[in-house]
Amino acid sequence: MEPKYKRVIIKLSGEALAGSASHGIDTPTVESICRQIKEVFDLGVEIAIVVGGGNFWRGRSGEGMDKSTADYMGMLATCINALGLQDVLEEMGVPVRVQTAIEMKQIAEPYIRRKAIRHLEKRRIVIFASGTGNPFFTTDTTAALRAAEIDAEIILLAKSIDAVYDSDPLVNPEAKKYTELTYIDVLNKGLKVMDSTATSLCMDNHIPILVFGLNEPKNILRAVMGEKIGTIIQE
Ligand code: GTP
Repeated sequence: MEPKYKRVIIKLSGEALAGSASHGIDTPTVESICRQIKEVFDLGVEIAIVVGGGNFWRGRSGEGMDKSTADYMGMLATCINALGLQDVLEEMGVPVRVQTAIEMKQIAEPYIRRKAIRHLEKRRIVIFASGTGNPFFTTDTTAALRAAEIDAEIILLAKSIDAVYDSDPLVNPEAKKYTELTYIDVLNKGLKVMDSTATSLCMDNHIPILVFGLNEPKNILRAVMGEKIGTIIQE
């Protein structure tokens, strides 16, 4: 069976890398995620990863702090995660290039769109770090922006929860699970799947978003094969 997609963005939250520990990087968890990513890479799919930083720092951690400063600290956290992912993937034999939206040349390449595309064509995974490089923009918005820039066919939004619900299923056992939503549904219902900037960017650029859980070890593969898992958000 052929994968449904040739070029994808995988969005990993920082929390996904922390595993059951709520903080930092849990190596077995990261190894398990990277094994899944390698499986998809080995099928010939071009993969770019956008990683968050919430396992080290979230905007809200800096309550009382200047919002821009808190966001810049979050951007640095994403760089730690990007380097961690690069290391584990390369240990598995997958070539990786990290690109940062904020220049830190001694640590990684700067983000250059055409170079990122070239890396993908040369069969390397590209990890986009430090968000968009701007405060007030989330890493979900980064995923939407980079997907538009590199012509990714879909954003695979890997979460700790298996789909989008109308309320928090951990709090409300009656929560209704959505299998399909439109961008407008997400915006109108105020669903907390992505922020409105990210959702609007995907809507304007016709980029579908598949929200699914990382709990099932084959889910990234299933997503790329076009299986109906999680929630698909599109027109
Ligand atoms: P080609 O152009 O296809 O050869 O790509 P390449 O990435 O293999 O070549 P390049 O010479 O650009 O990079 C070699 C290594 O240096 C790679 O691991 C890059 O990630 C890294 N690298 C390239 N540019 C920078 C940079 O500005 N800063 C840092 N820290 N590393 C860089």
